[in-house]
Amino acid sequence: MTDTESTSVFNSSDAGSLAERKARHLEICVRPDVYAVETNRTGLDGVRFVHRALSEKNLADCTTETEFLGLPISIPVFISSMTGGSDEAYRVNRELARAAQIARIPVGMGSMRILFRKPEVIDHFRLKRIAPDVPVFTNIGGVQLPQISHSLIIETAKKIEVDAIAVHLNIGQELFQADGDTEFRGVLDGIRRLCEASPLPIIVKETGFGISPDDVAALLDAGVRYVDLAGAGGTNWVRVEAHRSDDTTTADEFSGWGLPTGVLLGALARTGDGRKRDGILASGGIRTGMEVAKCLALGAEAVGLALPFVRDVTSGGADAVVKRVEDIRTVLRSVMIMTDVATPRELRSVPLWSTRAFDDESASLAATATDEPGRDNADG
Ligand SMILES: Cc1cc2nc3c(=O)[nH]c(=O)nc-3n(C[C@H](O)[C@H](O)[C@H](O)COP(=O)(O)O)c2cc1C
Repeated sequence: MTDTESTSVFNSSDAGSLAERKARHLEICVRPDVYAVETNRTGLDGVRFVHRALSEKNLADCTTETEFLGLPISIPVFISSMTGGSDEAYRVNRELARAAQIARIPVGMGSMRILFRKPEVIDHFRLKRIAPDVPVFTNIGGVQLPQISHSLIIETAKKIEVDAIAVHLNIGQELFQADGDTEFRGVLDGIRRLCEASPLPIIVKETGFGISPDDVAALLDAGVRYVDLAGAGGTNWVRVEAHRSDDTTTADEFSGWGLPTGVLLGALARTGDGRKRDGILASGGIRTGMEVAKCLALGAEAVGLALPFVRDVTSGGADAVVKRVEDIRTVLRSVMIMTDVATPRELRSVPLWSTRAFDDESASLAATATDEPGRDNADG
């Protein structure tokens, strides 16, 4: 496909309306007093750590430092992909990038799609200049991959000097968006081809409904560096879109849709060879340091937050984001000491105890996977 063909993706929606839509998303997401956009069930409350009264760790033994995309970061927490393209979005992104640089954590940005139509806003996406010492990743929709030239995506990513490209999967949102995409065939193939062509690592994420164990396996097999589960329990994009159209009747039926982040991690730990695999990021509904610690213990390499950080920026700028990260660090470090481990990675090996409901749901979801060891038995 040529670069000229790439503009066909804008047939139904020009850059102006795209920027307006992004601005409206922001407005809806930062007004919890007016718009309910969250669903609040990750399943993580069904999991607990085993407190170790005889921990042998001193505070000085423990570090939250780790790596992301091979680059050093201060804690395995990242700012999930959000916005870009409008003036307000730029203001938000600048503060998020400033916070990421201060806190030394990775930062994602919203879809770069608008750049193919409105290249003059490229500076809005040059967050690496604000956060030169941390991993920064750009973003593009999976549904756009069969439509846009991959060389254009890669060249644009290089121009804005990012460390990775995140591809988002958002069928639910597209279906409930008045001018949304409705053609979803060919996305996995597009991801595979992008992985082959791109010198930059590819991250694939959902936007709040999760990625099933079989789809995770397919994405890792396609060459994806990280799969960010972006599961259910936080921002529900069908709801966000419904608020935009002022009619929530049918969207309400999707309030409980999706794979809760914690249950999904529990299921993944039960599939394949049963060991926690590399390359999994967790996000979707993560709001506290304890939830971050639980995701790491369940096998995530790093944990992302979106809605809390964008609300922080609105209420208190970069300082509020940094404060939240420091609070998460305090909790994570305390959990590490109280479970007798010195690094976030070691949390993966600590024993967990869980409710019957969590175990049943994780096992039931794992049993849907075609590579799940007990599946043949389950099928009789
Ligand atoms: C204001 C806002 C804008 C977002 N825009 C994007 C986007 O452009 N691309 C993307 O992949 N995800 C986007 N997301 C989704 C988040 O990255 C995340 O997957 C989702 O909100 C679930 O996480 P949360 O519960 O922590 O909010 C956006 C989220 C918010 C709150």
